[in-house]
Amino acid sequence: MLRTATHSGPIVTVSDDDGVATRFHAIWLRDNALDPETRAPGNGQRLITIGDIPADTTISAARIVQGDLEVTFQPEGKTVLFPADWLADHAYDRDHPRDLGRTAPSITTWDRALTPPSADWNAVHANPRAKRGWLAAVAQYGFARLTGGPVEPESLLRVVDLFGYVRETSYGRYFEVRTEVNPSNLAYTGLGLQAHTDNPYRDPVPGLQILYCLENSAEGGESIVVDGFRAAQRLRAENPEGFALLAHHPARFEYSGSDGVCLRSRRPMIELSPDGELVAIRFNNRSSSPFVDIPFERMEDYYEAYRQFADIIDDPAMGVAFKLEPGESFIVDNTRVLHARTGYSGAGSRWLQGCYADRDGLLSTLAALDRVQPEAAE
Ligand code: FE2
Repeated sequence: MLRTATHSGPIVTVSDDDGVATRFHAIWLRDNALDPETRAPGNGQRLITIGDIPADTTISAARIVQGDLEVTFQPEGKTVLFPADWLADHAYDRDHPRDLGRTAPSITTWDRALTPPSADWNAVHANPRAKRGWLAAVAQYGFARLTGGPVEPESLLRVVDLFGYVRETSYGRYFEVRTEVNPSNLAYTGLGLQAHTDNPYRDPVPGLQILYCLENSAEGGESIVVDGFRAAQRLRAENPEGFALLAHHPARFEYSGSDGVCLRSRRPMIELSPDGELVAIRFNNRSSSPFVDIPFERMEDYYEAYRQFADIIDDPAMGVAFKLEPGESFIVDNTRVLHARTGYSGAGSRWLQGCYADRDGLLSTLAALDRVQPEAAE
């Protein structure tokens, strides 16, 4: 509930029951007007452009109507109501964090102490609440397991069907991960793999990876996941200058291991939003190409920071390890969580299928579940 509204020139100030004052600009309020001429009642899409709003928009009246704010704009002479809750949800008259390397409030970083979030195949298919919890874990932790699924090829596509769409790449709609006699990519051999994000040479990178286990009787072959955001935060704490070097200079990545494919990207290992929030990690020794965007004077420092970042990622205290059983799978947020595997021997067999999907599909499904069934939210 709002209590008072005053206006002075292009600014409205409202205060609530607690006396907390919040300011809004005339141009901002006019742009975000909720009336049916400004916003389509059905889909909520804006019907006007910035050019449709008079540049000299100002406020001729502001008053409280049953706890909400009513504003009259000039020169249009237009009166619009803004619900108090809507204003509270969208207030921008506050301190804006700018510290480099912070995480979004919805994210929880972790190390090896984390119990892997996990859901059951049948439950996520039958129960929206279980499905919501599983998707929310991916959003919060950047990975989640799914157990109890069928031991059938292409089951991973059914995992993706639960929240979105497969992102097809030059590796196909999905790919096989098992020993090959003549491997074209190290992921298909029995060697261990350093923790990495997939396909940093794509732009954008695949947002999610799904790895689905069909056989895993070989020695070793454990999956390990590492929170790249936690690793970045550790680097920032231990070596702020090195963190800034990795964040503020593009690395280069390339893959051209197949005929007709030459993928290249120029992106930093630690990507920040313009106001400093962690956006993405790209880390892959196999597909790094020569770094040519770091000033000569900083190259040795850059390499020192790169080595330190790798040491943190390789630190056993960082990784959560688990062995996938047939019918089990996991999703990683490939923009955040690195995955690795221990080496496995030729005794027995290991067969995984992998595919990619986009994050937005998962986040949209999660948000829509929350909107339709808010009682399902924890
Ligand atoms: Fe990988």
